[in-house]
Order: sequence, then C-alpha cells, then structure tokens
Amino acid sequence: MNRLSNKIAIVTGAGSGFGKGIAQRFAAEGARVVVNDIDAENGERVAREIGAHARFVAGDVTKDADVKRMVDTALAGFGGLDVIVNNAGTTHRNQPMLEVSEAQFDRIYEVNVKSLYLTAKHAVPHMRAKRSGVFITIASTAGVRPRPGLTWYNGSKGAAIVTSRSMAAELAKDNIRVNIINPVAGETAMLADFMGEDTPEKRAQFIASVPLGRLSQPSDVATAAVFFASDEASFITGACLEVDGGRCV
Ligand SMILES: NC(=O)c1ccc[n+]([C@@H]2O[C@H](COP(=O)([O-])OP(=O)(O)OC[C@H]3O[C@@H](n4cnc5c(N)ncnc54)[C@H](O)[C@@H]3O)[C@@H](O)[C@H]2O)c1
Repeated sequence: MNRLSNKIAIVTGAGSGFGKGIAQRFAAEGARVVVNDIDAENGERVAREIGAHARFVAGDVTKDADVKRMVDTALAGFGGLDVIVNNAGTTHRNQPMLEVSEAQFDRIYEVNVKSLYLTAKHAVPHMRAKRSGVFITIASTAGVRPRPGLTWYNGSKGAAIVTSRSMAAELAKDNIRVNIINPVAGETAMLADFMGEDTPEKRAQFIASVPLGRLSQPSDVATAAVFFASDEASFITGACLEVDGGRCV
C-alpha cells in the first residue's frame, strides 16, 4: 500500500539518523522527496540510494537562501510541495549548563527553532494558495521530560513544540496541519552527545528510563511521520506524539 502516493515532501537533515529513515520510508510509500542536509556526502548518498524519486539539496536550515532553494526544488523539480519534515537538529554535549558556550546556545536555537520560521516563510504561501499542507516537527521527549545536562537543548525542543502548536492554531484555517513527534533517545549519531559518552553503562542507564526497554530507531520515528503526512491524519493538527517506549508516562 502506498500511503503517500503523489505527495511531495522535504525532509531536512535527511543524510543521517531519523531524517534518513523518514526520507527512505516516505519514498517507499510513494512520495517524491527533497533530501536536505548540511553534510553533502551523506545527503547525496541517501538521495542516490532512493533513486529517481529523490533530489538532494545541500543546505543549512538556518540560512534563508538555502531553505528557499529546498522549496524551489520541490516546486520546480517535482511540481509541488505537500509536506515538510523539520528534522535537522543539533545539541550540545551532555554537560553542566554553565559550561555550554554562548555560541553553542545560539547555534542550537538557530538550527532547532529558527528553521521552523524559515521553512514556514518559504512554504506557507504556496500551501495557502492550494489550501493544503503538512508540517511535521521532530522535537524530542527532551522538550516534555527534560534530563539534566541537556538544559539548552531541552529548552530549544520545548520552543519547537510550542511554536509548532501555535502554527497549527494559526494555519488551520488554511487547511495546513502541523504535528510534532517526540522521540526518546535513539540510536543515531547524536546519541553519544546526549549520553555524554557512549559506554555500555550509559546505554543501560538510558534504556532503564524507557519502560519498553530499548532506545528508539529511525523506523519508529518514520512510522509516525508517515501517518502524520498521510491523508489518514487529515483531522489531526497540533498533536504531539511521543515515540518513546513510555518514557514520558
Ligand atoms: N537521537 C536522539 O536520541 C534524538 C531524540 C529525540 C529527538 N532527536 C531529534 O531528531 C532529529 C534528528 O537527529 P538524529 O538523532 O537523527 O541525529 P543525526 O545527527 O543522525 O542527524 C541529524 C542530521 O541533521 C543534519 N543537520 C544538522 N544541522 C543542520 C543544518 N543546520 N541544516 C541542515 N542539516 C543539518 C546533520 O548533518 C545530520 O545529518 C534532531 O532534530 C534531533 O534533535 C534525536
């Protein structure tokens, strides 16, 4: 069953981890996908592996011109834009809050929050004109149930959640839906930063805080993203779905 036939999507940060899993699953469900990443090597590889239904756009989600290029590629290259997955994200290493530099703080808010502003700026006019569109924010359980050592990252994800919910309230009249996925710690490149160090003891400690007893996988997040992107979710907006094995219970 192709649940995303004829959909055109942009997935930011799709060269690795959750974004890669989402882009691959979207394509498998029939979507055409603009694969974005700041890391050209990884992003190009993902797009190449997907094949004709993917195009890679190198770019930084904090740069206006780069985000415009992603949207233009969807519109000119594939002929439309239905879904944006705001997945690209960054964090500081797990450490005492006052040891995080101001430059790191600024970068985290730019990548995790300003990206919502820029993608909205370039995509909403088009979505408004056709009276449909979907935004999906990959936030985090960090924004709901924060762990110590990740204070500024946690705050940025809280901001991403509230911003996305506010977008849902404001854009509903245009039939533009905005939903949020909150994954628990997952097996991606970011995990070592979240744990401070990737040791068997640290992993066991994180897993012990997840009632279902494991870390999240890109496929868990991709499954939720397909649902929100599909017409099955046509009456769902402003929802925040924890994909967290019960961590937030
Ligand atoms: N891994 C986890 O434990 C976890 C848990 C909850 C939420 N998240 C969130 O999931 C999202 C994906 O992270 P991941 O875990 O897959 O990590 P990842 O490092 O595997 O992937 C993140 C990707 O985003 C790209 N990226 C970073 N900054 C960018 C920018 N400015 N412009 C474009 N691309 C950029 C990176 O190059 C990388 O390919 C992030 O928003 C992250 O905060 C991760």
